[in-house]
Amino acid sequence: MSKIITAQGQGPLNSIDDWEDDLLVRYPDAEAIATGRDTEAYRNYEATLKDTVREFYRLQHINQTYDFVLEKKADYLKFDKKEMTVWEAFDFLNQLIDDSDPDTDLDQLQHLLQTSEAIRADGRPDWMVLTGLFHDLGKVLCLFGEPQWAVVGDSYPVGCAFSDKIVFSEYFEGNKDHHDPRFNTKYGVYEPNCGLDNVHMTWGHDEYIYHIMKPYLPEPALYMLRYHSFYPQHRENAYSHLMTSHDHQLFKAVAQFNPYDLYSKSPLTPNWKELRPYYEDLVAKYLPSTLKF
Ligand SMILES: [Fe+2]
Ligand SMILES: [Fe+2]
Repeated sequence: MSKIITAQGQGPLNSIDDWEDDLLVRYPDAEAIATGRDTEAYRNYEATLKDTVREFYRLQHINQTYDFVLEKKADYLKFDKKEMTVWEAFDFLNQLIDDSDPDTDLDQLQHLLQTSEAIRADGRPDWMVLTGLFHDLGKVLCLFGEPQWAVVGDSYPVGCAFSDKIVFSEYFEGNKDHHDPRFNTKYGVYEPNCGLDNVHMTWGHDEYIYHIMKPYLPEPALYMLRYHSFYPQHRENAYSHLMTSHDHQLFKAVAQFNPYDLYSKSPLTPNWKELRPYYEDLVAKYLPSTLKF
């Protein structure tokens, strides 16, 4: 398969996986939910942060505005980019090979399979296994020409004040919404506890795959997909004021999912050939023969 270098080479990250590698440095512990930031640990984190990762957050924070998100949703949620079978979609995603370190990095499908297999090994419901397999498929946005900061990165609401619990929140100074009275108050365009269904999140792979899978998967699965990068809530509890009790209930599912995403990476590669029949049956149980992107 031909490697697409430029898709990952738009920078500043050498690979979009660098963001997730950085998450492991920021959240080394699967269980810990932030209760007031541990300042010493945070200083250590800042000290070891790569310049490319810092620049990535800067670009994300200045460019993810309310208008940007609405524009991307209007475009992508027409689903007129490409129609693929699930397997063609995985092949398509796998063109995102990290050329900075091709020997040691796993391809995208391996991360998805490691996640889904870890979920399966724990005897979780089959729709959660399927969620593990699909959760990062939205990264095909890279192949549609989106910059890294509109594909990966922590997700968070736009249209209201950016929380200071978001990593590198000081970069929001460069975001025009931060200076716009419509958007820079605690609730902005939203009502207190309006529910996350009514909130626009930053545009990225989570939001995209959530909308693609929405007709087919149960609600906890959709929460896992849409909020798996919403670290400012599931780790920092920064946006409870926009959430309903129903959201909080379903965030238990998001918290259950997160360790499988973040901590299931291993150098052992699952045997796709052996596993494929199981996943073919699972996909056929829940999904149509082709998906629209
Ligand atoms: Fe992800
Ligand atoms: Fe992931």
